[in-house]
Amino acid sequence: MAEIIFESVSRTFPVTGRNGRPDTELTALHDVNLRIRPGELAVIVGPSGSGKSTLLDLLGGLDSPTSGRILLDGTPITGPGLNRGVVFQQYALLPWRTAASNVELGLEAKKIPAAQRRERALEHLDLVGLSGFADRYPHELSGGMKQRVAIARSLAFDPDVLLMDEPFAALDAQSRETLQDELLRLWRRTGKTIVFITHGIDEAVHLGQRVAVLTSRPGTVKAVVDIDLGDRTARSDLRSAPEFAHYRHRIWSLLHSEVDRAQAAERAAARPSQDGSEPASDSKVSSIG
Ligand SMILES: Nc1ncnc2c1ncn2[C@@H]1O[C@H](COP(=O)(O)OP(=O)(O)OP(=O)(O)O)[C@@H](O)[C@H]1O
Ligand SMILES: [Mg+2]
Repeated sequence: MAEIIFESVSRTFPVTGRNGRPDTELTALHDVNLRIRPGELAVIVGPSGSGKSTLLDLLGGLDSPTSGRILLDGTPITGPGLNRGVVFQQYALLPWRTAASNVELGLEAKKIPAAQRRERALEHLDLVGLSGFADRYPHELSGGMKQRVAIARSLAFDPDVLLMDEPFAALDAQSRETLQDELLRLWRRTGKTIVFITHGIDEAVHLGQRVAVLTSRPGTVKAVVDIDLGDRTARSDLRSAPEFAHYRHRIWSLLHSEVDRAQAAERAAARPSQDGSEPASDSKVSSIG
């Protein structure tokens, strides 16, 4: 079981000016401090642009912090590794490989023999409801199906840490709920550390042992909410339970004050206008992402 510690993690990106050269900086994440316990299913929510995907890229070792560090079992993350599996916000399948062969990809990296690879790929395609689609190519699958293949791939890979960036966002409500329950069962069975990003408040409450709420950009941890709902897969009516509503409201309030703050900041940046009037109130500048 793996423990993750973010120590004062910041990430800024250079912003290209009119002359084509970087002239300013954009702070995506600022001073993020967070400990994810070994074997925890931690959910991160935050407004759009608050740095959630950036945070996951840093965890995956695909990008490095500008300052601070991230420790995985005490060792700083310096690059990608076989101990972490990532499910991206947008499915990343190889178009020239079939569904099963895409699932086998990570198993090849682990040097698992071909027959076992195939078996494990089929088993995991079955788990995400895609038995019968093993030999289809990505262009023959719907968006939701492609995302399921990506999920099957990271589950089959069996990493210590599973990093998931809005993996169910493109799915229909029914598939989403099925996969949420599958993920909870898998997590209980394996005790993996899972970091799950979502913009769905219900999804956060349903899955998270703890939910970390990020501020609007620059993203930092605004609050960490403990979700005490017991075994969620044991209750079919959980979403209508009063405790569920309580947590939903708590996270909703935390997020909405952030969205309001971002909107106020955007309005302030837009002033002073020529006639001193406020910009149109329907200008959509930020939303929960
Ligand atoms: N490679 C990059 N270069 C420059 N800016 C970047 C880069 N990656 C991210 N950003 C900026 O960092 C900020 C955070 O982006 P990020 O994708 O992490 O947000 P997010 O919380 O995942 O948003 P969403 O909910 O919309 O997916 C954004 O303002 C984005 O434009
Ligand atoms: Mg994102």
